[in-house]
Amino acid sequence: MDFPERLIFDGMNIPPFRPLKENVEKRFTEIRDLECRKDDIILATYNKSGTHWIWEVVCMLIKGNTEYTKEIKEFFFLEAIPDLDVVHNLPSPRPMNTHLPYRWLPKQLTEKGGKIIHVIRNPKDVAVSLYHHLVDFGLSNISFSQFMETMFMIPSPAFSMGSWYDYVKEFEQAAENDKHGAILTTFYESMKKNPIDETKRLAKFLNVEASDKLIEDIVEKCSFGNLKNADKTIKDQSILKKIIDLPSVDGQAKPNIYRKGIIGDWKNHFTVALNEQFDKIYAEEMKNSKLPIQFE
Ligand code: A3P
Repeated sequence: MDFPERLIFDGMNIPPFRPLKENVEKRFTEIRDLECRKDDIILATYNKSGTHWIWEVVCMLIKGNTEYTKEIKEFFFLEAIPDLDVVHNLPSPRPMNTHLPYRWLPKQLTEKGGKIIHVIRNPKDVAVSLYHHLVDFGLSNISFSQFMETMFMIPSPAFSMGSWYDYVKEFEQAAENDKHGAILTTFYESMKKNPIDETKRLAKFLNVEASDKLIEDIVEKCSFGNLKNADKTIKDQSILKKIIDLPSVDGQAKPNIYRKGIIGDWKNHFTVALNEQFDKIYAEEMKNSKLPIQFE
């Protein structure tokens, strides 16, 4: 298996974005101390939970039209962009995105109330999606089961920004304590099953006036097939080279973000034994959680 050296910080296995490799504590602290505006919007997700999708929906809602922007979501990816000053110079309302856990989100936003959209996807499909993402990035010679046993299911520091469980439970707690109505929790699966209703919910949370027609058009423009196509034909991917230096990014290939876009692909990857093992860990980890996670 080839993969970059591990960088552990605050119990997390930090991904190899350049600013984090240079000084992870500095970038995390800069994000936590970010000067915020009242109308800032942060899309916060565990990896592979549909970030790119919801990002496009949110951007279209804010703009009030269905044009694809050239910029990919990585232009506004707090822990990865070369220079955070880009964010200081953005016009309001500023949408930003991050995979940082709740405790590292900008304090001004979490303490005074801002708009935080948290997207949750069931962890079996997250694991499958993450596995394929890492294979695209050069993780070779490892089966899905090996990936699960050596990376996704091990106790902290799990792969990525801490374990899926820690991430969603920390957010669940924060949402329970949220006095300002600053956090909107949404589910990948709900978005897939009821995109119109979920997009309306997002619009309401963002205080955006959106006609039924606009909502329908956004849903259509942000369908899996349309976003996959826009990603190839319209989006400017040049920032990727600046934020990460893995071979697949510098060469032709780049991670295939728009892979399948379905609920339940885990059934094609989990053996019965792995599923039983996973379910046991899940039951224990989530025994005090009320999150309505949808596996199908
Ligand atoms: P799969 O790998 O299961 O296909 P992220 O943006 O957080 O990295 O998440 C990527 C996952 O979201 C991928 O899952 C991708 O296919 C899925 N996705 C992206 N756009 C989507 C859309 N419009 N509808 C459904 N799933 C989408």
